Amino acid sequence: MKESQQLRTLAVDIGGSGIKVMVLDEEGNPLSDRHRLKTPHPAKPKKVIETIVTLAEQQEYERVSVGFPGVVQNGVIKTAVNLHDDWLDRNLANSLEEILSKPVKVANDADIQGFGAVSGKGVELVITLGTGFGSALFINGKLVPNLEMGHHPFRKKETYEEQLGRAAFEKHGAKKWNLRLEKAISHLDRLFSYDALLIGGGEAKQIEFDLPANAKIVPNITGLLGGIKLWS
Ligand code: BGC
Repeated sequence: MKESQQLRTLAVDIGGSGIKVMVLDEEGNPLSDRHRLKTPHPAKPKKVIETIVTLAEQQEYERVSVGFPGVVQNGVIKTAVNLHDDWLDRNLANSLEEILSKPVKVANDADIQGFGAVSGKGVELVITLGTGFGSALFINGKLVPNLEMGHHPFRKKETYEEQLGRAAFEKHGAKKWNLRLEKAISHLDRLFSYDALLIGGGEAKQIEFDLPANAKIVPNITGLLGGIKLWS
């Protein structure tokens, strides 16, 4: 197939602090730079969608993949803890299809990060460290849907997200956050006995300790690159 006939995918990553886009070819290679605008606050659907449209207007593409920071079922938003409750039960895929006049697929942001990062072998757990705490589990490359570890109790009556989200990093500082993360990783290893732990998200760069041999940091851009897999 000639390059000109390739379907270009606009990959969108909606985060708690930024909305990022990048155009990908059919193999998932970047065809554009990454562009970013701040997530509007309050992060209600209308303003967030307007921001995506602004970013999309500058790009050429035939279809759209969106990573959303919450549970997504068939394009419908089921949770949006770090955005706004107005998202609940909204069909984001349909709303964007109407506005952009292009096919749109929406999935959880950590799942997309995982699609871009897993090797496809064995048990692979993905966690993302950003505004929220994202999680995705893959068995031989197949996603186990809807794993939401972020809101599960971790320690001291707080959840993983309360202890390790960006707000906790800012409140308690790098030292405490790193100690907590080290503990969390050892809990998760015992819980899942995974072959690999893949750590993504904007705050993964704050990790200061040596990771165990079965864990590694994946580049944040994976949250966009994985968007291609929604079409395979
Ligand atoms: C949400 C997850 C999301 C994560 C990272 C959490 O608060 O519940 O669905 O993957 O944040 O954005």
